[in-house]
Amino acid sequence: MKLPERVTVYEVGPRDGLQNEARNVPTADKIAFIHALAEAGLRHIEITSFVSPRWIPQLADSAEVARGVRRREGLTLSALVPNRRGLDAALAAGMKEIAVCLSASETHNKKNINKTIAETLAAFGEVVAPAQAAGVRVRAYVSTVFGCPYEGDVDPARAVWLSRELRAMGVYQVSLGDTIGVANPRQVERVLELVLAEVPVDDVAVHFHDTQGTALANCLAALQLGVTTIDAAVGGLGGCPYAPGAAGNLATDDLVAMLHAMDIATGVDLDKLVEASRLAAAFVGHDLPSKYLKAHLGKQARARRQAERGA
Ligand code: HMG
Ligand code: MG
Repeated sequence: MKLPERVTVYEVGPRDGLQNEARNVPTADKIAFIHALAEAGLRHIEITSFVSPRWIPQLADSAEVARGVRRREGLTLSALVPNRRGLDAALAAGMKEIAVCLSASETHNKKNINKTIAETLAAFGEVVAPAQAAGVRVRAYVSTVFGCPYEGDVDPARAVWLSRELRAMGVYQVSLGDTIGVANPRQVERVLELVLAEVPVDDVAVHFHDTQGTALANCLAALQLGVTTIDAAVGGLGGCPYAPGAAGNLATDDLVAMLHAMDIATGVDLDKLVEASRLAAAFVGHDLPSKYLKAHLGKQARARRQAERGA
């Protein structure tokens, strides 16, 4: 099996994770959570989004979060930005990296950002170049690459087309999203082969949701094609409120555990990552789906019981 020696884990839990939570998480908890993720060794963290609070009330405190987090050398903090207004707010809050997003399918794009794809690409003109002029790097998500909750199958040619358009605007990396978690490894291979024929592999990331339990298998397919940036959300938090039926993101804990077991370096401390997952589970008020987390907590509980019996 041909695999990279190192993978960059792009943590999206504070944004993709918390945007989908029913409970309103206090700003101070979000900031402590981001600090815990950084402490675990994650070096790329999407901390919030500067979108309309009418659309995503969970992240209405984006400016406070962005102003409240500690910045440090070697740590990249990013935020999702849908329009010029979001960019201005992100710049004012000190962001040095942002991400734009659009969908490969028209209906999801419309439901998520209330524009056609053509209108969205045109609106990015007001975001990408001005961000770069302000010294801010821009990443992009293409959502619904592997399937749309409204339209079903999506032609892989659309991901190729949009990746090309986004790169031409100066976006440094395109993250291909399986927004509703329906992708399978063969499909990932097919889409990536087409995209990688036009885009250098370092400029491509993958973003899987784990609705059907195929996210890790999809990562393996991407890794074998040389992809070295993978988005994930600690504990398996997440989902898009405008994609019905979508479950959480691939759990960072599961991804890092698998990569480390395969001798692929990430720079992440798995024990500290589990602590960040526990923190998130406590403030969102429910168990998180990460399998590694469940196994780890189960092992700890068994060890505790054994120690109590022995004492
Ligand atoms: P709209 O309603 O068409 O826009 O929304 P509008 O210009 O008419 O503005 C509506 C209201 O929002 C106005 O306020 C604006 O001022 C305000 P009002 O006058 O009604 O009080 N507004 C803003 N406020 C703060 N920050 C802003 C902003 N822009 C407008 N930036 C809009 C269009 C794009 C704003 C809206 O559709 C929106 O915010 N959508 C974001 C939805 C979202 O965040 N979805 C989840 C992220 S995508 C995802 O999860 C997928 C991903 O993870 C990858 C994958 O899994 O595939 C990335
Ligand atoms: Mg997502």
